[in-house]
This record gives sequence, C-alpha cells and structure tokens, in this order.
Amino acid sequence: MSPQPQAAVGAPLSRVDGRLKVTGEAQYAAEFDIEGAVHAVIVDASIGRGRITGVDTDAAEAAPGVLRVIHHGNAPTLPYRDNPGSNNLPGRKLRVFQDDRILFHGQPVAVVIATTLEAAQHGASLVKFGYDAERPTTDLAEGEPGRPGNYSRGDVEAGLRDADVRLDMTYRLARNHHNPMEPHATIARWDGNRLTVWDKTQWVPGTQLELSTVFDVPLDSVRVINPFVGGGFGSGLRCWPHTVVAALAARETGRPVKLVLTRKQMYFGTGFRPAYEYRMRVGSDRRGRLAATDQGIDAETSSYETFTEAVMSPGQMLYSTPNVRQSYRTVPLDVNSPIWMRGPGAATGVYAVESAMDELAHELGIDPIELRRLNEPAQDPSNNAPFSTRRLLECYTIGAREFGWDRRNPKPRSTRDGDWLIGMGMASGVYHTAVAPAQSRGRLNANGTAVIECATSDMGPGTYTSQTQVAADALGLAMRAVDFRLGDSRYPQTPPHGGSMTMASIGSATLDVCIQLRQQAIRLAVEDEESPLYGVNAEDIVVRNGRLHVQGNPARGESYQRLLTRNDRTRLEANASFSPPRGERHSISAYSAVFAEVAVDATLGLVRVRRMLAVYDAGRIISPKLADSQAIGGMVGGIGAALLEHTVTDHRDGRIANAGLADYLVPVNADIPDLKAIYLEGEDMQADPLGVKGLAELVIVGVAPAIANAVFNATGRRVRELPITAEALL
Ligand code: MOS
Repeated sequence: MSPQPQAAVGAPLSRVDGRLKVTGEAQYAAEFDIEGAVHAVIVDASIGRGRITGVDTDAAEAAPGVLRVIHHGNAPTLPYRDNPGSNNLPGRKLRVFQDDRILFHGQPVAVVIATTLEAAQHGASLVKFGYDAERPTTDLAEGEPGRPGNYSRGDVEAGLRDADVRLDMTYRLARNHHNPMEPHATIARWDGNRLTVWDKTQWVPGTQLELSTVFDVPLDSVRVINPFVGGGFGSGLRCWPHTVVAALAARETGRPVKLVLTRKQMYFGTGFRPAYEYRMRVGSDRRGRLAATDQGIDAETSSYETFTEAVMSPGQMLYSTPNVRQSYRTVPLDVNSPIWMRGPGAATGVYAVESAMDELAHELGIDPIELRRLNEPAQDPSNNAPFSTRRLLECYTIGAREFGWDRRNPKPRSTRDGDWLIGMGMASGVYHTAVAPAQSRGRLNANGTAVIECATSDMGPGTYTSQTQVAADALGLAMRAVDFRLGDSRYPQTPPHGGSMTMASIGSATLDVCIQLRQQAIRLAVEDEESPLYGVNAEDIVVRNGRLHVQGNPARGESYQRLLTRNDRTRLEANASFSPPRGERHSISAYSAVFAEVAVDATLGLVRVRRMLAVYDAGRIISPKLADSQAIGGMVGGIGAALLEHTVTDHRDGRIANAGLADYLVPVNADIPDLKAIYLEGEDMQADPLGVKGLAELVIVGVAPAIANAVFNATGRRVRELPITAEALL
C-alpha cells in the first residue's frame, strides 16, 4: 500500500474546538438547558463515623419551592446489581440512602429537590439529622494496615548485608485532590424506563453500565451525554454517588433534575490521590552499582473499598537492581474511596525512587545522572521482557545539555543569588503504556466530508483535535472536512478516557475506520470503468485533499465527491473494533528525564521554581502543540504536588479542613516560570498502530522529585515529605 501523505499528524495545529471553548459555546454537563429541570442539593453527613438516629425534614419540606426531601428513611431500595466494569473497586460500594451508617465525613445523607437552586440550597440547610457519633480514624499513621501485596526478586537481606553503603529513608506524600475547573455535575431525566444523563465523566460507557446496574434497567435504556469535560485528572473515572442521587431524585419527582457538586463537596463526593508513606532501604557498592532495595509502602483507602494503583512498578523496573523486595499495604480509614489522579501510582513511586537515587548519589559523591546510567537495565528487570523502546539515556544526554547541567555545583548550599540559594535537581520518569479495546464508526459522504463517532470523553487533552488529525491524514481530507464526534453512549464503545490510553486506543480505532473508508473508495474507483483510476493497482493509489490519484502521478485521479456521486453512493460506511495487538511480549513504557532549578530564600524558606526542562521518550507525537499543553500542564501539576498541594483532614472528626480552592493551594501564574518540553523523535510500533506511548500521565511523573532534589542541592536540607513547605526549610 502506498503510504498516505501525512499533512495533519505531526503538525502544530490549534484545537478544532478552541473557538467553541473560548466563546462559551462548548456545553458542559450542567450547562444543558433541559426543559422542566429542577434543582437538587445534597446534604452531607456532619460526623466522620457512626449512625443516623433521626431525621427532621419538616422545615425543609415546608420551605417555598421545595418539592421533595429524600433520605435513608424514605428512599426506595435500589437494586445496585454488581457489575464487573465501571472501574468499581474491590469491596462494597457506597449505596446512597440505603441504610443509617455513616462511613465518612461528608457522606450524602439526603437530597433536597426544589424548583430553584436557591430554594434547594435553603431547604438543604433546614434538614436536621441526629447522630450517634464515633471517633473516626482518618490518619494514615493510626490505621491498621490490611494484608500486603508483595513483590520480590533476589535476596534482599544478603544484598543489603554485603553492600558498601546502606541508606534508610522514609518518604511521605500528602493526600491530593484533582480540583478540575469544571465541578462534577449531572442532569438526569427519565422518560418512562429510559434514563438520560448529562454527566461529567471520563468514561461514558462506564457510567452507562453503572447506572443500568444500580437501577436495574437495560443497558441500552441508559444514555450518557458528555461532549465536553472541563478537566478531570482522574476524578471522572468512576460514576460517583451524586450521579446516582441525581437519577434517583429525577425518578422520585418525575422531573429532570440538575445536581452540581460544590467545590467543598468535590473533596468527599469524588476521589483523591491517597496519602502515602514509602520507606526505602537502599544498598549499593562504592562505585554506585545498586545491590538491593527494600521498599515498604503504606497507602490510605476507605473502610468499604480497597483502592490500589501501580505504585510498585517504578521501584521494580526503573533500575537493574538485582535484589528487590516490596510490600504494599492499604490502610482502611474512615474516608471516602480514593481514585487515580494524574500519573497514578507512578508519580508516587517515582518520587520515592528518584529521591533515594539522589540521596545515594550525594552519599557516594557521584553525579546523579552518572549513577542512573550505571544502573540502566538492558531488559525489564521485573519480568525479563525486552523493552519495546527505552531511550532514557538519550533523555539524560539531551536534557543535561539543554538544561546546562554542567553548571550545577554538586556541593549543596554552594550557589547564591543575593538572598536566594540556588540549586539544580533531576529525576527520571516512567509510565506504563496502556492500550485497550476501542470501537469506532465512520461515514465518508458524497460531498467529500467525513464523520467519525465514538463514545470517548475529551477532558481537555484535545481529543477532538488529535483524532481529527489522524482521521484527516488516513482519509486524505483537509482537517475541516472531518467531523469527529464523541461523548455520547449511542456512539461505539470506548475504554476509560484516562491512563494515557486515549491516543493509542481510540486513535487506533479511528485509524482503522478511516483506512477502511479510504480502501472502499479506492476499490470503487479501480473497478469503475468511468473512473480515470479504472484498472490501476489499488496499492498505488493515495488520497490527498479529498482527491484519489496514482502515487507519483497527481494528474491521474478524481475526487471522492465525483466518484461517489457518479456511483449513486450517498456515503460509504465502516466500523472498527480495535484490539491491542497480542504479539511478542515486550515491556512498553514511556520515559522522561526532568530537570529543575529552584531558588530558596535563605531566611524565609520560600521555594521558587526558576525553570524546568523535561525530555520525553513517548513514541510518536501526533499533535505537538497539544503535547506541549499536556507537558506544561503536567509540570504545573507536579510543582503543585511538590510545593503546595495538601488536603488537610481534622482527625478529631474526619472533616477536611481546606475543602475548597481558597485554602487548597495550587500554583498560580506567578509560581510558573519557564517550562520547556522536548520530545525524542521516533515511534514505538510495538505499542500500537500509531506508534504512540502516551504522554498525559507521564508528564507529571518525576516533577516532584526533580524539585525536591533541587531543593537539597540549593539548601543542603533533605525534606522527605511532600509538599515541601517553607516551615520544613527553616
Ligand atoms: Mo488519568 S489519572 O487516568 O485521568
């Protein structure tokens, strides 16, 4: 087959939906104007653990505009059938209003439905609950760990015993919340037994499945609509209780119901990145060859579900350490369930591993990059699989050169700029490449336009745009001739919009469906006696700007439009069902080297990031401009995790003390300096047909340890706790 000319893929194009977004025309979940919609406000439990002893709804029900108050005392029993999908966690999910138990502070205990939002808010303030309160356990240090997950290779005790140098560190990471710009929201409407929801979700088919099983209605009688998502970072990867509450409220009142979580409610109404404690014992020889690591990981989860993530992976496969032991314990607490947050697992694991590498480099007097080079594995040490592509050494070389690593003084606290102590640090990053089955359908119309449809979400990475790029090139059409549609469960099924797998999975389905359409058109042409392409070998035909022609002979050809019209075809249609290839077993991950320069005020302890540079080995880059947005966003998120973000719980009653954007600190413009991303050119064809390895999660991984290591280089103070606050440096 002659290769299709690539005009859109790899070009730094702007978002196809950019105008809709900046003009406010893009509609987010709560913005749909549904006729007859009324408003719902959730009442949150005001204790951290215990039982409800009484409910008084009289005042609320008498308030003007209030239609209904639903709570455990009057709610219908909901079927809550189990389902294997929808990202449910092991355990017993929270069932709204089904009993009197309080499992965490803020748990939904009632919903007030009223004709206006203000009436619903007022009504919610009038509902009074009596409780039998117990003292909750919400501190990771006080919980009882569950049975650990274990990993081991070699003989760790012997490795540590025989090592020349032994270090023993414990790192701690604060709980973080996603805080996307768009609050979580649902509008639910029942038409008989059919349920339609406009919902903020990162997994349209997952939410559809979850609602169908909660209410025990057929899958195809639930429709989920979600064309735009205003940020997610993982918070939309599950169907949360408030979506069920909205659907229940709509069914009980017979009216469409709109329910928007407040900023505060997003702290316990959706998930979070759990707090961690990560103990790391490291043994090495004098020359810097790692002998052994012993890693003990504790992470919080809820009392009713067990949340785990891939936190152990970096500590197994980043370096060639012969002897490795890991124990990963989840600690059930009286909190709501965690969920994946950008760079899930990897960001946490890499923080511990890459901080420890920096400590070891300092102890041995070896350059941190040199130490990493010395321990670069030839194959994946966790399973002995060959790497598909692993170009971390190139990332180090290019990063060191472009960042000016040779200007770093390895002696801590040796570089000053007035009152500021200056330091440089680096870290490696890794994120496992995930690819999942995805479906798509497409139409090539007689007017020379195409429509591609699938159910995925677009939470902001630019899925509309990047998929249009793939489709435009595969069809030989201009970008504007392709209409890529998403965010509706009536479209073909797709995996969660997360885990960095959208480009690889949906992109492969898009590619497949467009190649099918192009080949149908080519076949039509070569078999059509009236076509200038009649009798030409199909393999020799390419399409450019909607015109099929012989490769190397642009004069011989015709447009899709002429071909289809002459053949009385209003359109060509195709369906794709992409499954990840099951070929040779490879270890497939995306990698990075992250560099940071910080300035620390010597008297005040303030940390300012001065500049950052990251080099990514992420396979093919489909959309360089969108990739830069991803990378910069990931670095900003990493700066937040390193220096600012910290969900604070009052352990006396389990209340989150800083639930809101006013008290939960995130970086603002003044915190964001010069951030630069470099991508290694190339592709990874073991990963997927597009050769992409995924970028979205990778770009936050390694940022926090690069900053922490730079803070040590600047100050000589090793802070083993995130976020690194001014107090810790005084
Ligand atoms: Mo990403 S944590 O899968 O949204």
